Amino acid sequence: MKLGRLNHVGVATPSIENSVELYRTMLGATRIGEPFDLPAQGVRVCFVDTPNSQIELIEPLGADSPIAKFLERNPLGGQHHVCFEVPDIHAAKSELEARGARVLGEPRIGAHGTPVFFLHPKDMGGVLTEIMESPKRAH
Ligand code: CO
Repeated sequence: MKLGRLNHVGVATPSIENSVELYRTMLGATRIGEPFDLPAQGVRVCFVDTPNSQIELIEPLGADSPIAKFLERNPLGGQHHVCFEVPDIHAAKSELEARGARVLGEPRIGAHGTPVFFLHPKDMGGVLTEIMESPKRAH
């Protein structure tokens, strides 16, 4: 297992529109994607580009969204997870499990169209950690 680049920081929000406005007016963000639904994960997502990474704004999609509970505890929203890239999702899952980390569910297609899984925050010093297979870039 070799730690790859920080792909994004996940930020939960009750309103993607309001958060986009905040990143635009407060921090001067200019590269902002179109929001889209990710029904398999119960979230609506929008990426704000930074020069070296991205902020993933996540809004609940439906009442049973995993983000809904987070927003009950954090009504303003807040930092939700960090996401690191790995070259091979299945190899990473096996290695992390062998080291005693709890992987939450099976790898599934994430917001960038490549497989992802999450590590239990109790096994990562309290930080919900997403592991994402790097997009295959054209050579
Ligand atoms: Co994410």
